[in-house]
Amino acid sequence: MMATIIGTRGTGKSTLLKNIMRRERLLVIDTLGEHAGDVDRFFEWDPKGLAEFFKEPRRRFRVGFQPKPDSGEFEAACDLVWALGDVTVIIDEIDQYARAGVVPDALQRLIMLGRHRGISGAATVRRPPDMPRAWTAVSDRWAIFRVTEPRDLAYLAGVLGQEVNVVSSMPDYQFFFRDWSSKRAGIYSVHPGGTVRLAKPLAA
Ligand SMILES: Nc1ncnc2c1ncn2[C@@H]1O[C@H](COP(=O)(O)OP(=O)(O)OP(=O)(O)O)[C@@H](O)[C@H]1O
Ligand SMILES: [Mg+2]
Repeated sequence: MMATIIGTRGTGKSTLLKNIMRRERLLVIDTLGEHAGDVDRFFEWDPKGLAEFFKEPRRRFRVGFQPKPDSGEFEAACDLVWALGDVTVIIDEIDQYARAGVVPDALQRLIMLGRHRGISGAATVRRPPDMPRAWTAVSDRWAIFRVTEPRDLAYLAGVLGQEVNVVSSMPDYQFFFRDWSSKRAGIYSVHPGGTVRLAKPLAA
């Protein structure tokens, strides 16, 4: 599973991530340090602590890390995910570390080859053009909260077709969801703690 989560400020993206954080073998790249309470170990700005934690073989782990942008820490975390394999990696605000056309090699490898190592992921951005293209290209799941910028809607129209109209008037905490592999689509709501409810099914 690879998921792309898009939406304007405060619409519910990070809350939706909490749903995926229930998994085991989880590494949360927590850009703003919002998810410390949802993981078993949170390393904040402690890359050494993170590396030491994984010196021991670990079957189950749910850890968070807050890499400083432009420090190489994000790339090191991507290398760690690659080395571990069978991991769910969550990247809140991925545009802090990568842009549409500028993706660090370590992240590019996770995106392009991670499936072969059992790596899944979910990443959020506020504006669709800021999502690395490689990430959207491999995303089987899309969750789109409200997006209102005309240029962003034009971009999304290329992905969603007419359903883009739903997205522009979406209330807070509701999102358009499409799973290309299971052919599921609908409007869902998210609730504090990450609970998700179907609000309205849509034809896939
Ligand atoms: N269904 C809900 N009802 C009320 N409040 C909610 C609901 N879902 C989420 N919230 C709250 O709304 C706030 C904003 O949500 P969240 O942080 O998930 O938004 P975001 O899209 O990640 O915003 P940002 O782009 O600023 O990171 C949070 O405090 C969250 O707990
Ligand atoms: Mg957020």
